[in-house]
Amino acid sequence: MRKCVVPGTFDPIHEGHFAIIKRASKLFDEVIVAVAKSSEKKPKHSLEEREKLAVDKCSSLDNVTVKTFDNLLVDFVRSEGAQCVVKGLRSVKDFEYESNMAALNSQLSKDFETIFMIADPELKEISSTQIRELESMGVDTSSLTRNSDC
Ligand code: PNS
Repeated sequence: MRKCVVPGTFDPIHEGHFAIIKRASKLFDEVIVAVAKSSEKKPKHSLEEREKLAVDKCSSLDNVTVKTFDNLLVDFVRSEGAQCVVKGLRSVKDFEYESNMAALNSQLSKDFETIFMIADPELKEISSTQIRELESMGVDTSSLTRNSDC
């Protein structure tokens, strides 16, 4: 069974994340969306809120499960018996950050590969940071976070 982990802070999960999760769900038998506690990032939404939003968002995908974690990603991936971590890339900036994280994780564990998926062009401008900013100004963000697929 091919299993992957799609990790993130998901503060909140949005259409761009969902597109990557959906693409991963077609390549892998099982996908675990891993919502990191990420206390150091001081997330706007609680871990429980972020988990629930992710569960609601992914409810249409039969082979996708949402879990939370508060340890090293390499340890979480090992405990789940997954062979891959999947991350989306929207930009060169994402690439610089994510390739650094992948290299660090590779130093810590050789048990899994990190695979990158290039974001769909129409979704690459969406970010959780912008959604949080719009939310704080009272703007309806449902077109960016709602399920367009269910
Ligand atoms: O959505 P994000 O913020 O880009 O996701 C980052 C995340 C949660 C994948 C990353 O911070 C992570 O793996 N956190 C778990 C702790 C860890 O393993 N850190 C790497 C060594 S510093």
